[in-house]
Amino acid sequence: MRLSSPIPVVVATTLSALSGVQGKSIWASWPASGANLFREGFLVGNGKLGAIPFGQPSIEKVNLNVDSLWSGGPFESSTYTGGNPEKEQSRTLQSVRDGIFKTGSGSLGTILGNNNAYGSYRVLANLTVQIAGINSYSGFKRSLDLNTGVHTTTFYANDNKTYTTAVYCSYPAQVCVYRVSVNTGSLPNIALSLENKRSPKDLVNATCGVSFIRMSGTTQKGPPEGMKYDVLARLGTGPLGTPISSCSDTDPGTLVVTGSAYGEDEPLNTLAIIIGAGTNYEQLRCNAASQYNCKGADPYEAVQKITAMASTKLESKTLIAHQQDYQNLMNQFTLELNDPWKNSQYPSEGLELFQLLDRYRSTAGRPAMDTDAQAAADGSYVEALLFDYARHLLVCSSRQNSLPANLQGVWTDGLETAWGGDYHTNINLQMNYWFAEQTGLGDTTQALWRFIKDTWIPRGAETARKLYGANGWVVHNEVNIFGHTGMKDNATWANYPVAAAWMMQHVFDHWDYTQDLPFLQQTGYIMMRDAANFWLSQLQLDRSDSTLVANPCNSPEHGPTTYGCTHFQQLIHQLFDTVLRAGAAVNDIDTTFITSLGVYLNSLDKGLHIGSWGQIKEWKVPDTRELDAQGNTHRHLSHLVGWYPGYSIAGFLNGYGRTDIQKAVEASLRSRGNGRGPDGNAGWEKIWRSACWARLNNTDQADFLLRYTIVSNFAVNGLSQYNGMNGPFQIDANFGIAAAMLSMLVVDLPLSYNDNGPRGVVLGPAIPARWGPGTVKGLRIRGGTILTMSWNARGLVDKVSITKRGTSVRFFSKAGNKIGEI
Ligand SMILES: *[C@@H]1O[C@H](CO)[C@@H](O)[C@H](O)[C@H]1NC(C)=O
Ligand SMILES: *[C@@H]1O[C@H](CO)[C@@H](O)[C@H](O)[C@H]1NC(C)=O
Ligand SMILES: *[C@@H]1O[C@H](CO)[C@@H](O)[C@H](O)[C@H]1NC(C)=O
Ligand SMILES: *[C@@H]1O[C@H](CO)[C@@H](O)[C@H](O)[C@H]1NC(C)=O
Ligand SMILES: *[C@@H]1O[C@H](CO)[C@@H](O)[C@H](O)[C@H]1NC(C)=O
Repeated sequence: MRLSSPIPVVVATTLSALSGVQGKSIWASWPASGANLFREGFLVGNGKLGAIPFGQPSIEKVNLNVDSLWSGGPFESSTYTGGNPEKEQSRTLQSVRDGIFKTGSGSLGTILGNNNAYGSYRVLANLTVQIAGINSYSGFKRSLDLNTGVHTTTFYANDNKTYTTAVYCSYPAQVCVYRVSVNTGSLPNIALSLENKRSPKDLVNATCGVSFIRMSGTTQKGPPEGMKYDVLARLGTGPLGTPISSCSDTDPGTLVVTGSAYGEDEPLNTLAIIIGAGTNYEQLRCNAASQYNCKGADPYEAVQKITAMASTKLESKTLIAHQQDYQNLMNQFTLELNDPWKNSQYPSEGLELFQLLDRYRSTAGRPAMDTDAQAAADGSYVEALLFDYARHLLVCSSRQNSLPANLQGVWTDGLETAWGGDYHTNINLQMNYWFAEQTGLGDTTQALWRFIKDTWIPRGAETARKLYGANGWVVHNEVNIFGHTGMKDNATWANYPVAAAWMMQHVFDHWDYTQDLPFLQQTGYIMMRDAANFWLSQLQLDRSDSTLVANPCNSPEHGPTTYGCTHFQQLIHQLFDTVLRAGAAVNDIDTTFITSLGVYLNSLDKGLHIGSWGQIKEWKVPDTRELDAQGNTHRHLSHLVGWYPGYSIAGFLNGYGRTDIQKAVEASLRSRGNGRGPDGNAGWEKIWRSACWARLNNTDQADFLLRYTIVSNFAVNGLSQYNGMNGPFQIDANFGIAAAMLSMLVVDLPLSYNDNGPRGVVLGPAIPARWGPGTVKGLRIRGGTILTMSWNARGLVDKVSITKRGTSVRFFSKAGNKIGEI
C-alpha cells in the first residue's frame, strides 16, 4: 500500500468486528392507534412475520402479518395464468415494431396482459391482550430499541404496579413473542384472543385449547379453495412452568390466564406468549411441474411444531438468541453523525421521535439547520436514526426463508393493501435493496434471489416465449407472489420487460461486494445470463444509426410506446457488460453466447443522447416529436438509471468524471424538479433525486432533497408516506434515504468488463458540513473491502482505515486528490 497524501489510510491488523456499537432507539409517550397504525406504530418482524403493537395499555393489540398471505393467484382462479395470454402472441410483434419504427410510436395490441386474479397482500390477525382491573394508567412509554429489535411499553397502573410489555420477532425461533410483566406481586388475570375482523366471518375460526389460542382461515370459500392460514399463540414456559389458564365460557376463542393461581408466595410476575403463523403458499411450487399452483401443505402442522418448540424454552433464552441474530446483522455497520448532545447515547432521555421530527421540520428549511448548531446536530441525529431504522426495517422484512420486502415490507393492516402491497419493479423493489450490500446486509438479499428463481423464472420463461418468441425469461412491472410475469393491462406502466435487467444489477452487485463466487456460480450467473439471452433475441436494428434498440418500449409510467427508450438501453447495456464480467468470473465456456454478447454490446445504443436543451434524452425518437419537454417534472428519473442507482453512464461510459455527461445529467435533474410534480408527491422520487445529485458531488442539492424527503413524507413514527403525509405507507423511501446518504458518503462504480483498472473510489463526494465530525464504520466497497472513515466539521474526509482488504482500489477525495490505495 502506498500513501500519497497526508490523510492516513491505515490497514488494521485484525479483522475486528465492530465493538461497543451504540444502538439508538425511538420512542413515544402515547399509545399508537389501530386507525393510524402506519403513521403511529413502530414495526418489528423476522422476515416472514411482522408485528405492530398498538392500543391502550391493558387492552393492547398487536397487528400480525405473515409474508405469504395473499388473495388472488391460483387460490382465487383455477385458470390463473400470471398475466400470460392463452396462446402465443409473438407473431403480432413484428407489425407492432414496424409501425413504431415508421411513426415513432404505436400500441402493443395483443401482447398486453390482464390484471385477472392479481390479488393483494393482506393482514393476518390481531392478537389482543387484556389485563383485568386496569382502568387508568400514567407514565406511559413505548419504544423500539434498534440495538435489540425489541419493542417495549411501560406504564404505571391504578393497581400500583408498573407493567412492562415486550414484543419482538425472532428469526432463529421463527416466532414473535409478546411478554408482559409486573414489577411487584402477581399479574392479574389476562385474557388472550385472536381476531381478523376484516375477513368475512364465515372464513375464519378462532378457537381456544389447552394453553393456546388459534385462528385459522381461508381467503375464499371457492372453488378453487382459497389460501389457508393459521396462527397460534401459546403460553410460554416460565420459571413456574406453564401458567395456569382456561378457555373462557363467555367469549369463545379466549384464553384466560389466572394471574393469582400460585398465590402470594410464588407470584406469576411474567407471562410470555409465543406466536407462530403460516399459510399453505409454497414458493417452490410456482412452476410448471406443479401447474403453477403455488400450493403446499396445510400450515397447521408446521405452526404447531414451531410454537410448541419455542414455548417449551424459557423466553429469556429465546430473547438472547434473537438479540444475537439481530445484532449480527445490525452491528455490521455504524453511522455516527455530528452528535454533540449525545442523543444516541441517551436516546430515551431525549426527545420523542415525533418531537425530533417536528423540530426537524421546523429547522430543515435553510438557513436554520446550517447556522444554528443545535438544529444542525439534532438534524444529523434524526438522519442517522432514520438510517438505522432503515436497516432495522430490512432486517425485519427480508430474510433467507422469507419473501422479499414488498411495498410495505411485511406489514399491512387491511385485506386490500395499496397497490396490492406487491413488488413494483420499475424503481420500488430495487430501492428497497439499494443500501443492503454497502451496509453488510447482503444476507437479506437471499429472499430476493429465491423469489426470482422460484417465481419469476419458471413463469417468466413462458412469458418470454408466448409474448416475444424469446429465449431466457422476462418479467414486467407489478408482480405478485404467484409469478405474475405477463404484463398487466396498460402499456404506460405494464410494458416493462426490462425489469429483469434492472434486477440483475442487484445480482451482480451482490457478488461484486461480497465476492461470493459460489453464489455467482450456482445462482447469480444463470439468472443474469438468461435475462441477457432474452434481450439477445429481442433487440432490433434501428436503421437511422445502425444501432440495436428495444422496440416496443415505454419509459416507466411516462409517454408513449416507442423504440430505443433511454431507460431500456441503459439497463441492457449494464446487463450485457456485467454478464460479460461475471461470465469471465465463473468461466462460462459457451463461447457462442459470450461472443454474440460482445458483438451485440458493441452495436447497442447505450442510451446516451444529449438533446436540444442539453439534457439526457428520455426517448430516442427525433426532437421534432417533442417528447422531451423541458420543465416536465414527472416523478420518475428513468433516463438517469444509468447514472444512479445504475452505472452504465456513470461508470461504463465514465460519466462520473466527464464534464459533458455531468452537465447533461444536471440539466435533466434540474428540469425534473424536486419530486413534487403532477401525480407525484411520494418520498421515493425525492430521495432518488438526492442520490443523483450526490453523484454530481452536489452537496447542497443532495442535502436539500434528503431533508425535503423527510420533511414532506415522513410521519411522526418515521415511516414514509405516499401522498405527502396523507399515506398510504410505502416503505421504499425509508430504505431510499439510507441509499441516498450512502451516495453522499461514497462513489463506488464498477469498471466495464474489458477495463482492467485501476479502479477509483471517491470518498465523501457530498458530505454536508453539518454531519461533521462524523464516522462511518463497516462501509463495504466493491471487491470485498470494508472500511472505516471519518470526516471533519467541513464534511471533508480526514481519516480512513481498512478493516478488510479486498481487490485493489485507489481512493480519491472529492477534490480529486489521491488519498491512498490498496
Ligand atoms: C395504591 O396506592 C394508593 C396510595 O398509596 C392507595 O391509596 C391505594 O389503595 C393503592 N391501590 C391498590 C389497588 O393497592
Ligand atoms: C385490529 O383491531 C383494530 C382496532 O380494534 C381494528 O380496527 C382492526 O380491524 C383489527 N384488525 C383485524 C385484522 O382484525
Ligand atoms: C370453522 O370451523 C367449522 C367447525 O369446525 C368448520 O365447519 C369450518 O369449515 C371452519 N371454517 C374455516 C374457514 O376453517
Ligand atoms: C393507462 O394509464 C395511464 C397512466 O395512469 C393513463 O393516463 C391512461 O389513460 C391509461 N390508458 C388506458 C388505455 O387505460
Ligand atoms: C466529482 O469529483 C470527482 C473526483 O474529484 C471528479 O472526478 C468529478 O468530475 C466531480 N464531478 C463534478 C460534477 O464536479
